[in-house]
Amino acid sequence: MIKPDAFAASNSGAIIKMIEEAGFKIIAMKKTLLTKDRAGQFYEVHKERPFYNDLTTYMSSGAIIPMILEKENAVEDFRKLIGATNPKEAAPGTIRALFAESIEANAIHGSDSDENATIEGSFFFSNTEQF
Ligand code: RTP
Ligand code: MG
Repeated sequence: MIKPDAFAASNSGAIIKMIEEAGFKIIAMKKTLLTKDRAGQFYEVHKERPFYNDLTTYMSSGAIIPMILEKENAVEDFRKLIGATNPKEAAPGTIRALFAESIEANAIHGSDSDENATIEGSFFFSNTEQF
């Protein structure tokens, strides 16, 4: 998912190009908005964390682009492509190193397991079997 900071900064095209050049196939993609409640649902696993309120405010502050991506070893390879959560710790050349503004406004989200990728795909796209 391209996050609101990257969308607002007109970095979506550059990020999608990096994703495709890294060998990911785009199965589904759209531009949409999250309400604060929906952002809270998406990041429910973090609801006890001190940054949860800020995170859900930020994630509902502007347009996002969720995508379903396909590749061998996709979860691990995508997390390598996006880099560490904190852009100061993200490896050079990663999406977060290039485009993230801060540890919160960090340009992009990646699923952390195959199971969560399926859950998160269904969160944004109905009838995922058609893809
Ligand atoms: P994501 O889920 O968005 O791909 O990010 P991640 O796995 O690298 O990081 P995670 O620990 O799951 O945190 C989710 C998002 O919460 C924001 N965050 N803010 N202020 C803070 O200390 C802080 N820590 C995390 C970031 O937007 C992070 O991506
Ligand atoms: Mg995460």
